[in-house]
Amino acid sequence: MPFLSDTLSRVKPSPTIAVTNMAAELKAAGKDVIGLGAGEPDFDTPDNVKAAAIAAINDGKTKYTAVDGIPELKKAICAKFKRDNGLDYTPEQVTVGTGGKQVLYNALMATLNPGDEVLIPAPYWVSYPDMALLAGGEPKFVEGQLQTRFKITPDQLEAAITPKTKWFIFNSPSNPTGAGYSRDELKALTDVLKKHPHVWIMTDDMYEHLAYDGFDFCTPAQVEPELYDRTLTVNGVSKAYAMTGWRIGYAAGPKELIGAMRKIQSQSTSNPCSISQWAAVEALNGTQDFIPANNETFKRRRDMVCEMLNAVEGITCPVPEGAFYVYPSISGLIGKTTPDGVKIEDDETFAKALLEDKGVAVVFGAAFGLSPNFRVSYATSDEALKEACTRIQDFCAGLN
Ligand SMILES: Cc1ncc(COP(=O)(O)O)c(C=O)c1O
Repeated sequence: MPFLSDTLSRVKPSPTIAVTNMAAELKAAGKDVIGLGAGEPDFDTPDNVKAAAIAAINDGKTKYTAVDGIPELKKAICAKFKRDNGLDYTPEQVTVGTGGKQVLYNALMATLNPGDEVLIPAPYWVSYPDMALLAGGEPKFVEGQLQTRFKITPDQLEAAITPKTKWFIFNSPSNPTGAGYSRDELKALTDVLKKHPHVWIMTDDMYEHLAYDGFDFCTPAQVEPELYDRTLTVNGVSKAYAMTGWRIGYAAGPKELIGAMRKIQSQSTSNPCSISQWAAVEALNGTQDFIPANNETFKRRRDMVCEMLNAVEGITCPVPEGAFYVYPSISGLIGKTTPDGVKIEDDETFAKALLEDKGVAVVFGAAFGLSPNFRVSYATSDEALKEACTRIQDFCAGLN
C-alpha cells in the first residue's frame, strides 16, 4: 500500500501475538485450548503496590510528570542498583519509560545510523531484531547451541564483532530459553568486549529476580567495571513484581545517552503513567518477600515441565537457570507424521499440529531465531501445565 512507510516494510508483526490470536480463535470456536504462550507471571500484583497506586490517585498524583520519571522513582532505582547489583548511578544517569520495551527502543532510536550493526545472541526475545530495524540498524546474530544450553561462547562473540558493531544486546536469564550466564561465563564475554571499545553493551536484566537453585545473577557493568561507561543496564518491574500491565521499565547508563533517550521520549510519549510510577516506587522500596515465594512456585513448575518433556523420545529439554520459559529441542521428531498424515517438517508445523490436534498452544522456535525448538511458558497453573505436558506426550507418542 503506497500510503505506508518503507520503514514499516522492514519489520514483521510479533509471531508470539500471532500464536496467541490463533489459540484465542480456536477457544472461541469451542475447542479446549491450553495456552503456554504467556510472557507474564500468572500472579497478581502485590497488595502493597496496589495500595500505593490507589493512594497516588487519591492524592492527585495524576498529572504530567518529568518526561523520564519522577525524582522519587529515580532515587528508588539508584538504590535498587546499589542494593542488588553493587552499581553506583546518580538520578541523571537513570531513565524511566513505558515498559522496558520503550526504554530499549529509545536507546536504539537515539543511537543507530544506517549500516550500524546490532549483535544479538539467538535465540532472542522477538522484539530486538525488529526494533533494531525500525531504528534503521542491521540486526546480526550469534547462535547459541543446544550443547551449550543456548549460551554463546567468547570465541563466537569475538568472531561476530565487526567495525560496524554498535551494540551487543545481552539478556540473562533469557526469554525464550531461561538460560542464565554464570559470573565466569559472563566474565569470559566481557573480556572479549573489553578489547572492542567501539561496542556498547545493552543488557536486558528483566528476569534478574526470577532465578532458581541459587543462581547468582550478575550484570555486565558489575562483572567488568571497565565497561560501565559504555553499558546501558535495562530492567523493569513487569516480571518480578507481576506488573506487566502497569508499563514501567527503566535503565541506567552514561548521562549523554540517557539525555538522548529522554529527547526521543519527550517527542513521542512523554512521561510513563504517573500512577504506575508511584506504584513502582513502592515495588522497589517496599517488601521483596513475595519474590522468593513466587520463585518456589516457578521452580516447582519448571522441574515438572522439564521432567515430563524429557520423558518424550525425540525431545530434549535443558533445565534453565531462570525466567519462566523452557526451550525444548524437537530435532528427534523432525520428519515424523501425525495420524492425520501431516509431516512435521519444522518447529512451525509441529506447533500448528500440536495446537490443532491437542489444543496446546506453544510458540515455535523459528520466531526466536533458533530451530527446531519450541518455547513453553510455565507461568500458568500446575494443573494446566500437567495436562498440557500430558497432551504433548500423547501427541508425540502418536507420531509415526
Ligand atoms: C527479555 C524481555 N525484555 C523486555 C521485555 C519487555 O518488558 P516490559 O516492556 O513489560 O517492561 C520482555 C517482555 O516480554 C522480555 O521478555
